[in-house]
Amino acid sequence: MPVKLLVTGGAGFIGSAFIRLVIREFRQYQVLNLDKLTYAGNLENLAAVQDSPRYRFVRGDITELDFVLDLIGQEKPDAIVHFAAESHVDRSILSPEPVVRTNVFGTYALLEAARRHGVGRFLHVSTDEVYGSLEEPFEADENYPLRPSSPYSASKAGSDLLALSYFTTFKLPVFVTRASNNYGPYQFPEKLIPLMICNALEDKPLPIYGDGMQVRDWLFVDDHCRALVALLEKGRPGEIYNVGGSLALPNREVVRRILAITGKPETLMVSVKDRPGHDRRYAIRSEKTMQETGWAPCVDFSEGLRLTVRWYQEHGDWVRRVRSGEYQRYYELNYAGR
Ligand code: NAD
Ligand code: TYD
Repeated sequence: MPVKLLVTGGAGFIGSAFIRLVIREFRQYQVLNLDKLTYAGNLENLAAVQDSPRYRFVRGDITELDFVLDLIGQEKPDAIVHFAAESHVDRSILSPEPVVRTNVFGTYALLEAARRHGVGRFLHVSTDEVYGSLEEPFEADENYPLRPSSPYSASKAGSDLLALSYFTTFKLPVFVTRASNNYGPYQFPEKLIPLMICNALEDKPLPIYGDGMQVRDWLFVDDHCRALVALLEKGRPGEIYNVGGSLALPNREVVRRILAITGKPETLMVSVKDRPGHDRRYAIRSEKTMQETGWAPCVDFSEGLRLTVRWYQEHGDWVRRVRSGEYQRYYELNYAGR
């Protein structure tokens, strides 16, 4: 019997990579993709799977409780893989409301529907940002305290706790994953790596927040998705699993490497006003995930970054389309006054 997955947010960056991977390599799964298609959702990301008999798309908003209850009641998925979120820290600072609504209430609606309809597995995809900023040499394991700094990370921490409460209280088989910063093809050019690549390719200034010495742990998106597939099979209900990358680097170094790959001068880097509440350093330990699933990240950062730059160079039309309209307004709002 095929396993029926309801994937939320499957038209976004990581969700679409997950669906492409599952349809390509894991034939036991059928996928129903539920996505609202916000500015971050793009069905072009799923062109490779759109004709597969194992893939379907339904447009809808996870914050509409009645709709979510009906959909899950009708479709009766075996498992839910929940990616849908407002995922960008800067937008959560400019406008926290949709972030709280989707990330907290939307997660509640899915949990409640999963509970009422007896869904057998609920994978809640979260982030290492819930641990907040860590001083050297600390690294967060899954028991580390939650100290989120931004409305985005606070909303994710809230949704993590809500998800885990559905296991403790209702025995819904929920588990939570917390991944580090993802990068790779199809990432919306508001996050550091795609924004810097796109600007560099057009000889535009590369805005570095503050001193640019903030450290992030970089995880190639397919490595993340392979960890999720492994956890879908082997993760234990009620548990949290960190999923970290292959290299931690300060932002300036990441941007320097992008400039070196694209052959552009370092003078394109400009220091701009820092992000309020900016976390200095993220660092996690992923031994638990590795030990319980046998997963390990396998894409080295230099290789992943080269591949990502090449993808953006070869997909100028995709970039032009996602940067038209709403993106211009956001860019102006976030960067003009810095
Ligand atoms: P994204 O912004 O690229 O995509 C989010 C998707 O969710 C979009 O397709 C959007 O249309 C959809 N969506 C938003 N609100 C919705 C709603 N109310 N109803 C239905 N669909 C809605 O995000 P991403 O970078 O792919 O992140 C996916 C998940 O992974 C998020 O939960 C995020 O918190 C988590 N995560 C991201 C990173 C990262 O580096 N990007 C790292 C760790 C964890
Ligand atoms: P981002 O990709 O927004 O991820 P997060 O804040 O969720 O880790 O940012 C990564 C790092 O890059 C973070 O320290 C903020 C910094 N940054 C810049 O310096 N300039 C930018 O224009 C952006 C988008 C991010």
